[in-house]
Amino acid sequence: MIELEHLTKSFNGKKVLDDISLSVGAGEVVSIIGPSGAGKSTLLRCMNLLEVPDAGRISLGERSMELNASGRGHLSIAERFRTTWLRTELSMVFQQFNLWDHKTVLSNLMEGPTIVLKESRKEVEQRAHGVLEQVGLAEKAHAYPSDLSGGQQQRVAIGRALMMRPKAILFDEPTSALDPELVGEVLELMTNLARSGMTMIVVTHEMSFAKGVSDRVLFMENAKIAVSGTPDEVFGHPRLANYAAKLGASASPAPRESAPEAAAPDASGEAEGRS
Ligand SMILES: Nc1ncnc2c1ncn2[C@@H]1O[C@H](COP(=O)(O)OP(=O)(O)OP(=O)(O)O)[C@@H](O)[C@H]1O
Ligand SMILES: [Mg+2]
Repeated sequence: MIELEHLTKSFNGKKVLDDISLSVGAGEVVSIIGPSGAGKSTLLRCMNLLEVPDAGRISLGERSMELNASGRGHLSIAERFRTTWLRTELSMVFQQFNLWDHKTVLSNLMEGPTIVLKESRKEVEQRAHGVLEQVGLAEKAHAYPSDLSGGQQQRVAIGRALMMRPKAILFDEPTSALDPELVGEVLELMTNLARSGMTMIVVTHEMSFAKGVSDRVLFMENAKIAVSGTPDEVFGHPRLANYAAKLGASASPAPRESAPEAAAPDASGEAEGRS
């Protein structure tokens, strides 16, 4: 359903995505893991054109978009317009929630469908109440994000993604900004979504989710998908030995690039890895 062909992206002359091809089927749950600076966030952001790839092709269902060197990292306003479908059909959930602080939970959910998709407010509002029920926040419709815990805010953000009726949801480290005691409620919601058949691509440091919930795991390293397969295949792969050892050493993220043999190409930019 989602097909990426030969995506490449460089920042300031440094390749961050190096000829990435990937296809994800409807209902599939794919986790992306790997060291800081590997290109995981950039891959997600390129998928829905939050970041514009330098070259490659992105297809979603029947539609397809070719990026070529003439565009090099930019879209014209007309192209942005023509590719709105890609951003709306691949909803994104960010580490930092990115909710509108000055709007109620209900308004946060209604914004996309009413403003971008131009759906009727009445119908959207009804649907929003259903989605709030689904994410376990029915009683918070009129609360503001600042009234909510981080876990609740992230569940609102997932609800907002669902409101777009996306073909798939892209998650970029959705639990990394949460206090440890709030991680569980968000993972539980994501697990339920996965079981309900939602197509999901999840960048995560939560190995329990990657191992236990995903159909497939991709290990990214140095701008490439270095290993891909079932959770068992990937976590048993010798290429992950270093990464797994580091994860074991510190259960929380903030991985540091200290592996001697991974040194040269990637060690420089890793510190400012952003999401
Ligand atoms: N907008 C940007 N401008 C310049 N360089 C960028 C930009 N976004 C990412 N990079 C660089 O691209 C590389 C890959 O970044 P990316 O955020 O995709 O890594 P990541 O795998 O998500 O890492 P992390 O686990 O730390 O989130 C890094 O070296 C980063 O500094
Ligand atoms: Mg990232």
